Amino acid sequence: MLYKIAYRSIAVREFSREELEAMLVDFRVKNQRLGITGLLLYRANSFIQFLEGEELKVMALFGQIRTDARHKDVHLFLHKPIETRVFPDWWMKFRWLDGEDEFNMSDLTPQNVRQLLRDYGAQ
Ligand SMILES: Cc1cc2nc3c(=O)[nH]c(=O)nc-3n(C[C@H](O)[C@H](O)[C@H](O)COP(=O)(O)O)c2cc1C
Repeated sequence: MLYKIAYRSIAVREFSREELEAMLVDFRVKNQRLGITGLLLYRANSFIQFLEGEELKVMALFGQIRTDARHKDVHLFLHKPIETRVFPDWWMKFRWLDGEDEFNMSDLTPQNVRQLLRDYGAQ
């Protein structure tokens, strides 16, 4: 079954855009192998990531991601079956958000998450 999950987390240190782009090269190879698509947002030391794919594969990958030493306080806030992918063309889309973007990482109501996806995701 196709699943979508999303979590937020805090980076253990500041990452540069270049460092994250370099990490994404590896993530995308593995995601493609697993059939996992999604979106990674980074702003001011916080991550939000959406992962979609086969439930078992998504949860297995999330099991690895949540113990990754590059971030902490990993909080899963969305976990549900879906019929179609929001990011069918992205093995992992990446958005680096700078200070001017309105983006409240700590207030993740379903409405805010939908807004996030509209603003940064499916475009
Ligand atoms: C914020 C964050 C997002 C990550 N996203 C992915 C991802 O989308 N795909 C992936 O394979 N690994 C991702 N990782 C890395 C995993 O935690 C893990 O290091 C990797 O899957 C291990 O790959 P391996 O099985 O080749 O050793 C992410 C790590 C962090 C900190």
